[in-house]
Amino acid sequence: MTAFFSSNFLVIAHRGASAEAPENTLPAFARALAVGAPAVELDVYAAHGELWVIHDDALDRTTNGTGRLEDHDPATLRGFDAGAGAVIPTLTEVLDLIGARAGVNIELKGPGTAEPVCALLEKRNTPPEQIVLSAFDHRELERAKALAPQWPRGALFGKDPSNAVTKGQALGAASLNFADRTVTQALLSEAQSAGFRTLVYTVNDRTRARELRDWGASGIFCDDPGAMIAAVTC
Ligand code: G3P
Ligand code: MG
Repeated sequence: MTAFFSSNFLVIAHRGASAEAPENTLPAFARALAVGAPAVELDVYAAHGELWVIHDDALDRTTNGTGRLEDHDPATLRGFDAGAGAVIPTLTEVLDLIGARAGVNIELKGPGTAEPVCALLEKRNTPPEQIVLSAFDHRELERAKALAPQWPRGALFGKDPSNAVTKGQALGAASLNFADRTVTQALLSEAQSAGFRTLVYTVNDRTRARELRDWGASGIFCDDPGAMIAAVTC
């Protein structure tokens, strides 16, 4: 089994290898594995008793459907094209594809996702070390912590990373996940000194990736993990 934090500097496939295949589809995750990504990131919403791997709560940007996920029954959702003929996958399908071959960062996108995601991971006997649950909405992480504290949590921060250490401590987070535009060496140092892993999104510039690596970041989310792995390991 691949532990999520399996190397000193993780190149995480953001929505799968989303530069090479439609984001958050099985081909994107298969490509991430093929290029040797040690971990993948995906976004998940709960609707109609199922967990759907998709970034938006609306279908319009990434599929040929329109409207919100919850406006359509599961059979209709499965009929939409999420790119190059791929369907919107369920979390079960993505986890089945990945197996033990990579770490998985499950980003909880909507309210009410923590409980079904934790239940699914428990049912599958997923090793906690393979997983990071993250969310911008820290209430979902609080629910995950209360329901199933064994799944490591990653506190996501957007434009404002102030008090990240204090917030991460309250959540019992394993990692603090920062937007690239907010990251300074001092912010990373503060988080690392407090014992957190630090992950930065979304970093596609190779020079910047190397800078973050040299500052001690634990990893980055990127869209082209094959190219990025070559760039940061040289
Ligand atoms: O988890 C990192 C990144 O995925 C957060 O932003 O909008 O791409 O889900 P977003
Ligand atoms: Mg995401």
